Amino acid sequence: MNRRKFLQYTASTLAIGAGLPLAGCQDTNVAGAAFAPYAHDPVRAENFTNPLFIPGAEGPFGVLNVADMPLTLKTHAATFPILGGRASPFLLYETSYAGKSYQNPILKIKRGGRFAATLQNGLNEPTIIHWHGLHTPANMDGHPNDSIAPGKNYPYAFTINNRGGTYWYHTHAHHLTAKQAYGGLASFFIVEDDDELQLARALDLKLGETDLPLVIQDKRFNAAGELVYQPDPMEKMMGYLGDIVLVNLTPNALHEIGPRIYRFRCLNGSNARVYKLAFVRGKEQLEYQVIGTDGGLLDRPYPAKEAFLAPGERLDILFDASQLHQGDTVFLKSLAFDPMENDGAMGMMGWMGRIMGKNPMAHTNSSMRLADGLEFNLLKLVVAKAAQGPRETPARLSQVQPIDIKEATARTVRLEMAHMRWLINGETFRTDAFPIEARRNTVEVWDLHNAEHSMPHPMHMHGFQFQVLARQNSPQQIRTLGVHGSGRTVSDLGWKDTVLVWPGETVRLAVDFSHDFGGDQTYVFHCHNLEHEDNDMMVNMRVRA
Ligand code: C2O
Ligand code: CU
Ligand code: CU
Repeated sequence: MNRRKFLQYTASTLAIGAGLPLAGCQDTNVAGAAFAPYAHDPVRAENFTNPLFIPGAEGPFGVLNVADMPLTLKTHAATFPILGGRASPFLLYETSYAGKSYQNPILKIKRGGRFAATLQNGLNEPTIIHWHGLHTPANMDGHPNDSIAPGKNYPYAFTINNRGGTYWYHTHAHHLTAKQAYGGLASFFIVEDDDELQLARALDLKLGETDLPLVIQDKRFNAAGELVYQPDPMEKMMGYLGDIVLVNLTPNALHEIGPRIYRFRCLNGSNARVYKLAFVRGKEQLEYQVIGTDGGLLDRPYPAKEAFLAPGERLDILFDASQLHQGDTVFLKSLAFDPMENDGAMGMMGWMGRIMGKNPMAHTNSSMRLADGLEFNLLKLVVAKAAQGPRETPARLSQVQPIDIKEATARTVRLEMAHMRWLINGETFRTDAFPIEARRNTVEVWDLHNAEHSMPHPMHMHGFQFQVLARQNSPQQIRTLGVHGSGRTVSDLGWKDTVLVWPGETVRLAVDFSHDFGGDQTYVFHCHNLEHEDNDMMVNMRVRA
């Protein structure tokens, strides 16, 4: 039985088991797996009627231009309206700045600027903030060892020396990251530089209007419309999937656009789900331009019709709606793909079945309602406004200087499972062990090798952006997209801090450990499937002075 058939079988078994009426509600997903509709499911196009949440100048996810004033970010448990506007328990970073108040502000700052913030822990458990993608001294990075107790503060101050681009910040509490990030503790961190300003000018783009940050997350809710995070042992191993897909915390989101170019800064803020992004009108996949990845703008726009986006990754996209007509509808979708959990998942299910004395799939597991790799919609775009804008995308966006690897040291990093734990070079996280040690101002070339019997792992490095050099032994669905030299896909271009490594695959990357911070610097290297991370698929990475 192949996986597709297996899923089909499981889905219908579950539907019967849960007493759902089967007749007349059985959709067939493009992937071929049976799909039973449910409230807010992202498969049915007609569900998409909720106005997309757009960040404003204050309030929830308001854009906060950080200048020289220090910021206070207080974590606290609150509520936030999500499903049909119903309040759900939610964790927030709260701040007031220049007379306005914000929750989970989208922080925006100029390259070269000084960032200063104090984290105040208003939760009843430890927490810490990590600035995902930023090159900071290690003590500013939000290492899990720096988690602070309830009521305590952590002061941050560092200079923004990253390229312009779409970064983000989120909790990195030791063993609590998955739960807290899922519960709400995450937002964007946007860095501006001259290339960014030039692009915004050339295309007349405005943040919050025609330049839209889109955070994509899958979540589960109980009958009262409250967020639920209750991973079972199997989900701790595979990752926690939700069956309701939110874009900017909006389920089944709809947004009206005009016939002009839009920029979408897509962030996969999900704990474990991978998306394969496409813009689809009817049955036609429309071309879009990838202009940036994790570490900012690419050298030029790269046309694409589909691209993978794994947890932690960003994909900056230009979508040209001037090719559309008034009334046209386009869906931003996640296309069907093979989640490649065959061997690992089947092996684990067998194992779990033995220790649990039953079939681990024989409970109503809502992640099975929206199985990994199914096709579904993320956002409905309707051309319903008059809007004009420049039509010509600049031919050059920025410069991406290749890392010089002539003197590089080689390192192999193996990803595999043993005794039901995911390992990095045979290790799980120990606070006082340093399995990866590099030297300051040296260049390394890493081969990230994922075992055959595995699942895709989005591997993330703190402190440094890297460059993907090659993909080898890729599965067919990656080989098809690997048109950018040495098997690389469009998601691999430019500067990266997170890269998806598929089962059996080897991803080669280059990293330059130059920095001007004093002394040894200890960061982490981990899987950004947050259940994997919290279950210690993470190692210290020390850069010796
Ligand atoms: Cu966004 Cu250590 O990660
Ligand atoms: Cu990070
Ligand atoms: Cu992983």
